[in-house]
Amino acid sequence: MKNHLKSFNLMMAAKSLAVTSAIIFLHACGSKTSAPSTETAPAANIVIDTKAASDSKGVGKFTDVALAAIDPAKADLGKAVFATKCTTCHKLTADKFVGPGLLKITSRRTPEWIMNMITNPEEMIKTDPVAKKLFEEILTPMANQNINETDARNILEYLRQNDSK
Ligand code: HEC
Repeated sequence: MKNHLKSFNLMMAAKSLAVTSAIIFLHACGSKTSAPSTETAPAANIVIDTKAASDSKGVGKFTDVALAAIDPAKADLGKAVFATKCTTCHKLTADKFVGPGLLKITSRRTPEWIMNMITNPEEMIKTDPVAKKLFEEILTPMANQNINETDARNILEYLRQNDSK
């Protein structure tokens, strides 16, 4: 009977400890939200991982690119442009060359971002946080190859096809 009481008391103690810590926890959370604004980190301090996926659309002409099933004819046209204008700096594998390897680029970046990077690299490097960070890491600017909208779209198709393999 005594032992039984002892374990009952222990159980009660554990219970009240749990309640107390929950209260402390809630209190800590509550006080965080009401903390003075001096505590919030400035946006510039956010660390960008260039290998991680980003949902940025970038800056440039492309704000809304609709995707359908991969069109092999478009991808072939894109492949031809890629061979003359992009292979000097990019591989289609994950390996870095002058620029980053482009394998899985269509999972890391939005279609809009990719097409804006292809057609508007100077502004992207200056103003888009991800492109800016890539440039800071590589220190070579992505060249503007004067790619028109159609070719940019075809290259995107080729990159999608490359990523779907
Ligand atoms: C002179 C070398 C060079 C050429 C040519 C070039 N790029 Fe780039 N590219 C880069 C560099 C370097 C970066 C990284 C950003 C920076 O440093 O400016 C980059 C970044 C990129 C990115 C973003 C990669 C990532 O991981 O987010 C894409 C997509 C891209 N380039 C596609 C292309 C395509 C498509 C072409 C051909 C139309 C091309 N590039 C031509 C050098 C080049």
